[in-house]
Amino acid sequence: MKQVISVVNLKGGVGKTTTAVSLAACWGEQGKKVLLVDLDPQGSAGVCVGVTGSGSELLGALQNINALPVVSTDIPGVDLVAAGPELAAARQIFVDGPGDEIFKSCLKQTRGEWDCVIIDCPPSLDILTTSALLASTSLIIPVEASFLGLNGLRQMVAAVNSIKLRNSDLDITAVVPCRAHPRRRIHWEIMDRLREMFPGKVSPIIHENVSLAEAPGSGKPVILAFRISRGSDDYRLVSLWLAERVGLDENKEADLSPSGFLQTAEQAGNI
Ligand SMILES: Nc1ncnc2c1ncn2[C@@H]1O[C@H](COP(=O)(O)OP(=O)(O)O)[C@@H](O)[C@H]1O
Ligand SMILES: [Mg+2]
Repeated sequence: MKQVISVVNLKGGVGKTTTAVSLAACWGEQGKKVLLVDLDPQGSAGVCVGVTGSGSELLGALQNINALPVVSTDIPGVDLVAAGPELAAARQIFVDGPGDEIFKSCLKQTRGEWDCVIIDCPPSLDILTTSALLASTSLIIPVEASFLGLNGLRQMVAAVNSIKLRNSDLDITAVVPCRAHPRRRIHWEIMDRLREMFPGKVSPIIHENVSLAEAPGSGKPVILAFRISRGSDDYRLVSLWLAERVGLDENKEADLSPSGFLQTAEQAGNI
């Protein structure tokens, strides 16, 4: 297990779960083995891959500092650690118990041949998110084009800097503009601000697209629910752009050259 990637933003509804699930599915499609960990008691990542649960197994693993409860999914290359409402109680064990490194200890004990772990975090910088960041090498921040969202980002960068004092492996790898409306002027203003704040780290955009709104209803990631759609194309492109940055692209030539979405981010005009 080489890379541990947390998908984090303080805001809800920006596209964290959609990004975590879609990247897992895209990398699975590209031949990687991915462990998708749902650390949000809402359990949405599980729903998006057709698995629901109470969260009690994950809560138990955290309480006893055991290996995480991994289940297989129908998504090629993707295994899951499912969350659910009972996981909310974990916040208390972290406070009362041995602290916010519990998740890292559980992950270390989890055996499997994954190329990467993707952690879908709750919409806050609570102790579950902190515990994910302490176990991570990469941080991916999905952002929505809004000025309020930018304020939240500043808060997040400050929090990440303080976590880096305890986990020097952690790096902000990318900011992924999600639910984008490039025809709106505010989109370009926000993109300029993002590029100033995160030079070289702003990925190609994910457009607001109905395929992404509808895919969770089928219990499948967009690339399986709507193979040919703007949502699928966008996430495939971002997955290739990110693979290099998170160290997953041993077959970079093979991945990029014959692919159908065919364009570099610049050619697509969407970075
Ligand atoms: N690019 C997009 N276009 C259209 N709908 C989207 C897009 N990204 C996410 N959604 C939808 O918006 C809602 C919130 O997205 P989600 O990924 O769950 O956000 P978060 O995890 O940050 O709360 C979901 O219903 C999802 O299907
Ligand atoms: Mg979510």
